[in-house]
Amino acid sequence: MAQDIFGQDCSLSDARVLNEWNAVQIGVLAHAARTADHLGAVLAAAPDFALGQAIKGLSVLMLGRSELRPVAQDALRDARAAFDTALPRERKYVEALAAWLDGAPSRTVALMEEVLTDWPCDTLAMKLSHGTRFILGDARGMRASVERVLPAYSADHPGHGYLLGCHAFALEETGEYDRAEITGRQALWTAPDDAWGLHAVAHVHDMTGNARAGLDWLEGREEAWAHCNNFRYHVWWHKALMHLDLGEADAVLRLYDTEVRKDKTDDYRDISNATSLLMRLELEGITVGDRWEELANLCAGRTEDGSLIFADLHYLLGLVGGDRRTATQRLVQRIRADGANPTTEAAQRMADPGCAAALGLEAFGEGDYRTAFGYLAKSRDSLQLAGGSHAQRDVFERMTIDAGLRAGNWSQVEAILEDRRRKRGGTEDNYAQARRALIASARNPRTDSRNNGDAQSVPAE
Ligand SMILES: [Fe+2]
Repeated sequence: MAQDIFGQDCSLSDARVLNEWNAVQIGVLAHAARTADHLGAVLAAAPDFALGQAIKGLSVLMLGRSELRPVAQDALRDARAAFDTALPRERKYVEALAAWLDGAPSRTVALMEEVLTDWPCDTLAMKLSHGTRFILGDARGMRASVERVLPAYSADHPGHGYLLGCHAFALEETGEYDRAEITGRQALWTAPDDAWGLHAVAHVHDMTGNARAGLDWLEGREEAWAHCNNFRYHVWWHKALMHLDLGEADAVLRLYDTEVRKDKTDDYRDISNATSLLMRLELEGITVGDRWEELANLCAGRTEDGSLIFADLHYLLGLVGGDRRTATQRLVQRIRADGANPTTEAAQRMADPGCAAALGLEAFGEGDYRTAFGYLAKSRDSLQLAGGSHAQRDVFERMTIDAGLRAGNWSQVEAILEDRRRKRGGTEDNYAQARRALIASARNPRTDSRNNGDAQSVPAE
């Protein structure tokens, strides 16, 4: 029986094809741009490799595009046709694809955990569990999953560095910032192309309000993410956030034009980077020119998708930013209709937190900040279920805070700022400090010399 790069039995027997499959596995872990080429080579040579078909289907579903469901369904059909010749470990992946297509990605996660029970050093299963939990907003599950298999790894396991990168990210998302930074740095020593681990350390600096340290970490390490698929734009997005917190708007816009929005795709991850960055800039009073236009045009074409509420909320940002009221209404109504009949886990998330968040964003776009604050504040408690990271969801947190300020709800805004600080290990970024100063000066206009036009724009509570 042939063995793969992780020392596991594999039903592929041709050495050349097995090499390609090993490149797929490492490519998934490294977010490498060439992964799809390697998978294409595997399936061209061995279309009856059920595990390869399952990975194709799962990868397509992770793109969050309804028009690609038939591709995933075809992959499942081909995988099932080869089910009898697949090994027990490989069959679990096929079942995992079927579960997601049935509308239950949490079952996909459970099946990957079943793989890890018997084969804890299957780094691909670890990454799939991690990535699916990330989409589902299950940070604690991400951490528990990684920590369950960590003891089984030897230092020279080819997936060890990538495992550390996932551990770093899970530690960061569960608030263990010091350990996350150390673990992320170790991940990079072990796997120099581990962009996910590198990016976990960037998250630490974001969450602890240390933008300068974040820039120091990223600058000079560009090689660690240059090989990536569009994940590289997300790392540039993190760098742009750091410049934003330092008030370096020109650097933010330069990165937006040259890196973050280098490819003007409608991939939801690219759209989320771009829309959230433009919205954050506007909340700081920075003019973004006509940059919303191309985003709004693309987002208007995605209103019927419904694959992921995380994607939908960012399409909505693009439509609100571009002042597309008809398309905004269309998307909000579609989210509400999906949420009214939640037969899948994706639709359950349309119901909660989707509906409240979407209505809040719509009201924000209409300048109805009292309504926007009401809905956005309501969605806060469950927004984690929309998936993504704390840093990604923070754009909605900022819109909640700024809507509350504009509506004059200072005490409620202060409570949110306090909760935000608690989640950040007691630290605060310049965004939050500026909002606190605004409230202080508005409350005490005679004694606070900082009272100026900005403060006057905050109405009385
Ligand atoms: Fe990130």
